[in-house]
Amino acid sequence: MYPSNVRDPKMHRIDSEALAKAFIDENVAYLKKEIGNEQVLLALSGGVDSSVVAALLIKAVGKQLTCIHVNHGLMRKGESEQVIEVFKNQLGANLIYIDATDRFLDKLAGVANPEQKRKIIGAEFIKVFDEEAAKLSGIKYLAQGTIYPDILESDDGIKSHHNVGGLPEEVKFELVEPVKLLFKDEVRMVGKALGLPDGMVYRQPFPGPGLGVRCVGAITRDRLNALREADAILREEFANAGLDKKVWQYFVIVPDFKSTGITNGKRTFEWPAVIRAINTKDAMSATVEEVDWTLLKKITQRITSEVEGINRVLYDLTPKPSGTIEWE
Ligand code: XMP
Repeated sequence: MYPSNVRDPKMHRIDSEALAKAFIDENVAYLKKEIGNEQVLLALSGGVDSSVVAALLIKAVGKQLTCIHVNHGLMRKGESEQVIEVFKNQLGANLIYIDATDRFLDKLAGVANPEQKRKIIGAEFIKVFDEEAAKLSGIKYLAQGTIYPDILESDDGIKSHHNVGGLPEEVKFELVEPVKLLFKDEVRMVGKALGLPDGMVYRQPFPGPGLGVRCVGAITRDRLNALREADAILREEFANAGLDKKVWQYFVIVPDFKSTGITNGKRTFEWPAVIRAINTKDAMSATVEEVDWTLLKKITQRITSEVEGINRVLYDLTPKPSGTIEWE
């Protein structure tokens, strides 16, 4: 299915609702015809790409699509809940939800090396997915949210470490990759035309290993929880200020060290929360967003008073280079 990996230079950029609708009509018809009565499987992370693929396939083959959402325990606050709400409750998808938090966190316990953490998360993801897939019978196709930059970048190897959630070469299914010739903005346009919520369509990029690479060093449940709560406050305040539509990527990092502070007249010894907010076109280089001081003070006040275990807030002023976007 979808034999060509090369985008026709004459293909019009999908930059309007009408073009998105035309893409949807054409692909729904194609998927219906090609899939026939067969069963399709999809790993649904809740990211834009896999969400758009899921919505397209639900439109084309409905319950013949089975989605598996693996919660690795490193999702942001509310993310798995949104996947269940949108796909299971609203779109009526066949969705299998696996809470694998304990499995991942047990495997990651005591592991501080970033590459090792990524490898564990990637390998465990494939294991959980394979185990679930093995319980299903009669699956012929595996759908994936590959997009055009993935194809271009995998040709020159730039993103070889960014393939968490990807599956091994020897998968026994035939691949279905309906958005593999589209750029990100086009995938978003199609997602919007498919009626997916804005929070999903315009979601900022989120790495496969999730909060795992932002809970620097060896992950502990308490520090991970502090990170998730602080990140949720940052996202809420950025959205209130309209920055969610302006800033390319913004998140919190919680490093593995503590400093002294005072809360309600008592001395504390707790972690700092580091805020990172950057703008970029292609993630190869990035500049730092100049966030309004009043807003930063409000976020600081909220994080230090609402999040257990955090007594300081820092702002990362480092562009890429010299810093990468993520801390690990
Ligand atoms: P860096 O940190 O390399 O990040 O400047 C560039 C962009 O890639 C994202 N990123 C990842 N995405 N798996 C992913 O799917 C990963 O392991 C990973 N590491 C970084 C990062 O969030 C940024 O948008």
